[in-house]
Amino acid sequence: MAHVLVHADKVAAAKAVSAVIRDLIVAKAKAGQTAVLGLATGSTPLPLYAELIRLHREEGLSFRNVVTFNLDEYEGLAGDHDQSYRYFMEQNLFRSLDIPKGNTHVPAGTACDHARTCADYETAIRNAGGIDLQVLGIGRTGHIGFNEPPSARDSRTRHVHLDEVTRRDNSVFFGDLARVPHGALTMGVGTIMDCRRVELLAFGAGKAEIVRRSLRSAPSADCPASWLQEHPACTFHLDPEANSRL
Ligand code: F6R
Repeated sequence: MAHVLVHADKVAAAKAVSAVIRDLIVAKAKAGQTAVLGLATGSTPLPLYAELIRLHREEGLSFRNVVTFNLDEYEGLAGDHDQSYRYFMEQNLFRSLDIPKGNTHVPAGTACDHARTCADYETAIRNAGGIDLQVLGIGRTGHIGFNEPPSARDSRTRHVHLDEVTRRDNSVFFGDLARVPHGALTMGVGTIMDCRRVELLAFGAGKAEIVRRSLRSAPSADCPASWLQEHPACTFHLDPEANSRL
């Protein structure tokens, strides 16, 4: 069963999750090991990334021994496209940390051979020792990563078609629905379920209904986030609005 923590607001939630990430990085460094983080994009993790940058700048938290894997990337967008998730990560996190660029991984949206690219991504995660902690947001369709319904519990990194609800939601970033790609490469539900720990963040009244379905309906492919009920170490971090229907 997933745990639920309701925070005063999204800044408080970001502080709580950043403290967990800091403790992981510090413990791994002490053991001479690398911390492997799974990261998300979108508006939800922005306060978390701001807090991680603050911890780096003001409290000396180093990311030299951190390896990251992002959940997903839009099909057809190169890393220098201002709506690509690689670009998002550079702007909102990586460029403000001391993480070596080679330690950061985002699926290659422009690769021609999706199957090979996705299989290589899975191999890279395995070779890094697996993901210690995965940060997630949640889409109004119940997607985690870009695992739109229906997504099987054992799905792996693959090419997917985006739900029209998701395309409309994300069109605010592109300025025009027509510019939003129809496809993406995403870690699968199974890839996410393999992460040793999962921290999902959801903020605002617009997420309340899907948070309720994810935690209260029987796990099924129709609401991919509902599979997280079966994860042994998953916490939903909510603000009071996202918690309002639980
Ligand atoms: C982002 C991702 C998505 C988002 C979700 C919520 O890498 O995989 O699952 O987390 O679409 O997006 P926001 O945070 O913009 O509401």
